[in-house]
Amino acid sequence: MRSFEALLMEYYLPLKHLHMLCAFLSATLFIGRLLLDVTGKPQWRHSPLRRLPHINDTLLLTLAFTLLAIGPWQPFTHQWLGFKILLLLGYIGFGVGALKQSLAVPTRTICALLALAQLAGIFYLARFKPVLFL
Ligand code: HEM
Repeated sequence: MRSFEALLMEYYLPLKHLHMLCAFLSATLFIGRLLLDVTGKPQWRHSPLRRLPHINDTLLLTLAFTLLAIGPWQPFTHQWLGFKILLLLGYIGFGVGALKQSLAVPTRTICALLALAQLAGIFYLARFKPVLFL
């Protein structure tokens, strides 16, 4: 009979692929909303595009913490993961700023650039899992 751990690990890869799908969708939806604002179409806020990213991001994070719970990774042991979580906080904060209509355009532009840089960092850390400090 297989152990409970072995059974859980069977779910690991499909859950990771779902997490990756949500990650790519999250990036696409964020960049898409930025582009709509840049091209003078802020009306997306009155379409399903207002709620869809929140639903996707909730799923992305739920899957992320499920992977943590059943997989071998620990944020204080595996530095790429710890830094990924830190960058995620920045991505959320600057991402909110970038889409906030009440902020001045230069502020929003800086927020957008910082959010995109942190998103790129998240993908890099996830993909290559570098050892940052020995
Ligand atoms: C915007 C947020 C996030 C993005 C864009 C993202 C992206 C990704 C990607 C692309 C992978 C697949 C890497 C590969 O094997 O090629 C991945 C894996 C993973 N992510 Fe995330 N992720 C995000 C948030 C998180 C968070 C917050 C956590 C933890 C709390 C997390 C935990 C993990 C884990 C444990 C894996 C599996 C690593 C492995 O088994 O190879 N992710 N993520």
